[in-house]
Amino acid sequence: MRLTVIGTGYLGATHAACMAELGHEVLGVDVEPDRIAALRSGRLPFYEPGLDELVAKHVASGRLRFTTSYQEAAAFADVHFCCVGTPQRADGDGADLRYVDAVVETLAPFLERPAIVVGKSTVPVGTAARLSARLAELAPAGAAARIAWNPEFLREGYAVEDTLRPDRLVFGIDPAAPGTEAVLREVYATPLAEGVPVVVTDFPTAELVKTAANAFLATKISFINAMAEVCEATDADVTELSRALSFDTRIGGRFLNAGVGFGGGCLPKDIRAFRARAEELGAGRALAFLGEVDAINLRRRDRVVALAEELCGGEVTGRRVAVWGAAFKPESDDIRDSPALDVAARLRRRGAQVSVHDPRALDNARKRYPELDYATGALAAAQGADLVVHLTEWAEYRTLDPHAVAEVVSAPRLIDGRNALDAPSWRAAGWTVRPLGRP
Ligand code: UDX
Repeated sequence: MRLTVIGTGYLGATHAACMAELGHEVLGVDVEPDRIAALRSGRLPFYEPGLDELVAKHVASGRLRFTTSYQEAAAFADVHFCCVGTPQRADGDGADLRYVDAVVETLAPFLERPAIVVGKSTVPVGTAARLSARLAELAPAGAAARIAWNPEFLREGYAVEDTLRPDRLVFGIDPAAPGTEAVLREVYATPLAEGVPVVVTDFPTAELVKTAANAFLATKISFINAMAEVCEATDADVTELSRALSFDTRIGGRFLNAGVGFGGGCLPKDIRAFRARAEELGAGRALAFLGEVDAINLRRRDRVVALAEELCGGEVTGRRVAVWGAAFKPESDDIRDSPALDVAARLRRRGAQVSVHDPRALDNARKRYPELDYATGALAAAQGADLVVHLTEWAEYRTLDPHAVAEVVSAPRLIDGRNALDAPSWRAAGWTVRPLGRP
């Protein structure tokens, strides 16, 4: 099939390359000429394991092309995936829909043949119905220009795998346009043939699946972090608690790792936008608990800062602190709402001299937080440090030799903000180790 993918960020670039891998002819569309120029030469503007190879492979095969022209997009295909961002609004908790709206406003006037605009962006419930009316109003094809909603659940770091072999597919279909289901089934023929389950539903349910899934995951993380707070008050061990809970198959062990909490471009802003939308709909009480989920999450960052002060004898002013990790999670260079950088910046504001290391995210971090120092290696960051704070659980930090690190620091003190380092071996090498939610 011929498809366009509008928006070539983390979601769109992955979707475009994976659709080409599934055998389709794909045109990626973006308003940023520099981004398009880079993609045309097979270069990605961000890090995602395996994606650069896939983009290069299909740019070379000719199945993946890029443009900045919506007119070209409308002429090329009749199925258009909308993959632009929906960040948090600058003036509140709701989602900023300007980019999604711009896709419809810009594309619609070129839609002269029957076409489907398939939304993948995470949007407040009710958006698809609104866009559907707007599309029919603006498109020369009128009501033959349809909306479908097909939320995306990919995780950064596993984006290619999650897109080629998703847990499930969700198709939100307008009952007045039942033919759109067959088109989506054709797009996803390969995963469907491999047995990926599909839920075909209406617009609002499809929109809600995505926000509900992210709200559940965020709640699960904040639940275990709330348990960590209680463990800290009683000298219990949250990692053993979590392990014991995980054997109950109704609970399961995934997303039950206590630490400095969730960040990234999705969970934090999605729970805020979900709650804001529920309030608009008069259902605010139903999601009031998400305010608590957010608060628990942010308190973990306060806890790391307080521990840092405690370990440095009351305050961090004038102390050298090494921060390991800048990305919001490993295998990503994404620093959006990164707990690691938020903690690093707070320590800096309290007068510490902070040296940050990350295997992938240093360029992004440097642009966002120029006031921090950056080191190209974990050991270099730790040079002369009064305290080391481990905040993003990259595998390379687990292979560091605690004795070797002890030799370069000025005091062997460690906060493990992800409960991922082997505390006994660090202690055996002379370190004072403070994990989160553990004695
Ligand atoms: C998330 C959802 O998982 C995905 O389905 C959705 O499409 C987009 O949002 P992503 O933001 O890539 O994906 O990251 P995810 O792997 O979910 O991690 C989110 C955050 O939670 C990270 O900061 C991670 O460090 C943190 N986390 C995760 C924990 O603190 N503990 C856990 O047990 C799991």
